[in-house]
Amino acid sequence: MKTDSISTLRSQQVWLSANQCHLDDFGALVERKTDLAAYPFASEVAANVLIYDGTAVRRVASSSESRKALMAEWVEAMTDGPGIIVFRGAFADLAALDAATVHFWGMIEEQRAGNTGGGDHFAKPGANDRIWNALEKLCLRAPEVFAAYYGNEIIALVSEAWLGPAYQITSQLNVVNPGGSAQSVHRDYHLGFQTAEAGARYPAHVHRLSPVLTLQGAVAHCDMPVETGPTLYLPYSQTYLPGYLATGLPEFQDYFDRHHVQLPLSKGDAAFFNPALFHAAGSNRSENVRRMANLLQVSSAYGRAMESVDRARMSAVLYPALRSMISLGRLTTANAAHAVATCAEGYSFPTNLDRDPPIGGLAPQTQQALMMQALAENWGPEKFNRSLEAWSWRRLT
Ligand SMILES: [Fe+2]
Repeated sequence: MKTDSISTLRSQQVWLSANQCHLDDFGALVERKTDLAAYPFASEVAANVLIYDGTAVRRVASSSESRKALMAEWVEAMTDGPGIIVFRGAFADLAALDAATVHFWGMIEEQRAGNTGGGDHFAKPGANDRIWNALEKLCLRAPEVFAAYYGNEIIALVSEAWLGPAYQITSQLNVVNPGGSAQSVHRDYHLGFQTAEAGARYPAHVHRLSPVLTLQGAVAHCDMPVETGPTLYLPYSQTYLPGYLATGLPEFQDYFDRHHVQLPLSKGDAAFFNPALFHAAGSNRSENVRRMANLLQVSSAYGRAMESVDRARMSAVLYPALRSMISLGRLTTANAAHAVATCAEGYSFPTNLDRDPPIGGLAPQTQQALMMQALAENWGPEKFNRSLEAWSWRRLT
């Protein structure tokens, strides 16, 4: 019947699935050559990636007309182009970068001595050192170093180009130590931090939306020759719509292993990329280079609700009501789940990853999941309240 075929087609367009991911479609998108002539502000193309010279960028950005043209070029490059741009000499003042490096090493030593922090999504313990929320930690510890470091014009310019004004920066420091092994290929936040099963529940327009809600960047805090394992990238892979469902598929992982590019970076260089780009940190095969990168995750101003809602307070009040209504047969578990979805926070982020590490999964437990667990296990209100308080505490810095 005609209606059936329309409905089936529509459903396939809106609900992406891993079954729709075919290597032929993917290959046709990613096997393209980057043409330097199409990007007049770029200084070169290396490994299919656009390279910009920091000094030239700062000069171009000083005029408001060419500043807009420059930002427009980056938007194109990260949307339909290779998806990644690299800045040589992103820090005009390496003293600011070096001063931050000293504080980052200090934080790592304190973290190791105190045996705190460092839980990681991707790496085995000890293979790397991770400082979550390095942004706040650096600001509180050394405000002048923070000011000099984040006074950086290129970070501001590329963030504004991708996300518009009022962007929100977070930073996670990552040190991959000699012997540290490569990450598996992935995309980044938001949908990249969900399992493929969870991602498939979001309609296709959200798969298109996710990459414009954040920008991913990395600042090199030391020279990173290839043997130290700078990030592996697959240019143009951000253009593949069902890509969030494909990174976990063995044939796509194998394709990534055979086709990725890897660019050496120098201290003070920075790379920025569309968070939907397929990428993975490389293996550190060096003898003694502890490869330090400050990973910048910049978020859109629009990733927030209009009203402040105290969901923990609501959940504490709602929980005993739900529990008694379920036990009296006045509410089904399914209806209770809908009420929980309205009341409690359904998203794991933002959180404090030191206290709330994503070990064993990509994302820590949500307030909703906690409440559903409490209902399923029939916790008393005191136990639920204690867990809720602990949940709220874990998210604070
Ligand atoms: Fe990543």
